[in-house]
Amino acid sequence: MRISASLAVAFVAATLLQSSAAPQVLAQSPATAKPGTHAQSAQKSQAPKAQLAPPQVAQLPPMGWNSWNFFAGKVTDKDIRDSADQIVATGMRDAGYIYVNIDDTWEGERDANGVLHTNSKFPDMRALADYVHSKGLKIGIYSSPGPKTCAGYEGSLGHEQQDADLYASWGIDYLKYDLCSFIPAVMQKQAPDDHAEQMRIMIAAYDKMAKALKATGRPIVLSLCQYGWDAPWEWAPALGGNLWRTTGDIQPHWDRVYTILEQQEGLEKYAGPGHWNDPDMLEVGNGKLSLDENRAHFSMWAMLAAPLLAGNDLPHMKPEIQAILTNRDVIAIDQDRLGRQASRAYADGEVEVWTRHLSGGALAIAVLDAGDNRYSSHPFHLNLALLGLHGPQHAKDLWSGKEVELTNNMPIEINGHDVLLYRIAAPK
Ligand code: GLA
Repeated sequence: MRISASLAVAFVAATLLQSSAAPQVLAQSPATAKPGTHAQSAQKSQAPKAQLAPPQVAQLPPMGWNSWNFFAGKVTDKDIRDSADQIVATGMRDAGYIYVNIDDTWEGERDANGVLHTNSKFPDMRALADYVHSKGLKIGIYSSPGPKTCAGYEGSLGHEQQDADLYASWGIDYLKYDLCSFIPAVMQKQAPDDHAEQMRIMIAAYDKMAKALKATGRPIVLSLCQYGWDAPWEWAPALGGNLWRTTGDIQPHWDRVYTILEQQEGLEKYAGPGHWNDPDMLEVGNGKLSLDENRAHFSMWAMLAAPLLAGNDLPHMKPEIQAILTNRDVIAIDQDRLGRQASRAYADGEVEVWTRHLSGGALAIAVLDAGDNRYSSHPFHLNLALLGLHGPQHAKDLWSGKEVELTNNMPIEINGHDVLLYRIAAPK
C-alpha cells in the first residue's frame, strides 16, 4: 500500500510520539536540569584539526552498549560508569563490546554563546569520557538535527559544527543522530506538500553533521536514526553514514523483534565494511523475551551483520543472558570481516532458513522457528540442496558447541521462537 507523502510524514511523526519510551520522558522538562560544569571549558579546548583523513571507523559492525532500551530517560552519569565497569567485569569488552553509548536525555541548555551544556544527570561529560576510555572502551553520544531530541531535549539545529567540536573536545567516539523534531520543525515547515523536497532537506541535514564531524579531525562513528525513511541504505553511505536504522523502534517482545527481522530481507546488498544496516539495538535480557527468543534475536542480528549494541541492565544481568551476549562463536559470525549480511534462503511454514557467506569460504546457517514448535511427529526437514550444498556437511552447532553432521533433508525438532545456528567451515 502506498500512502501519500504528507500522510507518511505525519504518520511517522505521530508514531514517534507514541513510541513506548518517548512519552514518559517528553513529560520531563530539560529546563529543570541544571547545566554541568565542563561543557564551557571544553568548548575552548577544541580538538586540533587533522590534516590527514581520520582512520576509517566501523570496518566491522560496531559493538557495545546503549542506555536507551533499559534506562531510557532516567540514565545518569553513574549508570554509564556502572555499565562500563560491568562491560569489563563480565568479559563483554574482551568479547568485542567497545562502545558505551549515552542515548537521549543528557542534554542541558545552551548558553549565550550557543554552547550546549549537560544537564544535572551528567555533571562532567569530559570526566565521564575519560573514565570510559580508561577502561579500554569508547564512548558515544546522541543528538538530533532538529531543535529538540525525541525526548524533548536540546537538539543540534543551527549548532552542528559547534556541537561536533564539543563532542570531539570531550573525546566522543560515536554519534547517534536522531531525526525526531526535524520532521515538523524543518521538513514539514519548509516543504509542506513536497515529500521529495522534505527528503532532500533531511539528507542535507545528515550531510551537514557528517561534514561537521569530519571537520573535527576525530574519528567518530556516525549512526543515522531516521527509522528507515526514504531508503537510507541508498544514500547514507555516500555522505559518510556508518550505520542507518532500517525501521522504527525495537521493543522487548518477540513480535516486534520478528517484524524487524522480516524487514531486513532484501537489504543485504547495502551492508559492508564501514556502512551497515541497523535493525536497532539489542533487547537481549529486556522485557519478557524468553531464553529461546533472546538466543534467536541475538543469532539473527549476528547473521544480519547488525551493530551489536546491548541495551540491558548490565549490573543485574543474569548468567544465562551474559552467556548469550558473550558467545564468541556467534559474535564471530557478526564480526566476520567479509561483512556480508545474511539472506533468507527458504521457508517451510513458520520455519525459515537464512545463510551468510563468511570469510575463508565458510557458511553460516540459521534455522529459525518464528512460530509454533515442530515436534518429531512433523519435524522440519533441512534441505541442504536448496542452500547449494551437496551431500553431508560437517558443521559446528554454535549454541551447543558440538560438532555435527548435517545431512540433506534431516529432520529437525525445534521450539517456536528458537534458533539453530551452524557454521560450516568447508561447505561442499
Ligand atoms: C527514538 C529512537 C530511539 C531512542 C529515542 C530517544 O525513538 O529511535 O532509539 O534514541 O528516540 O528519545
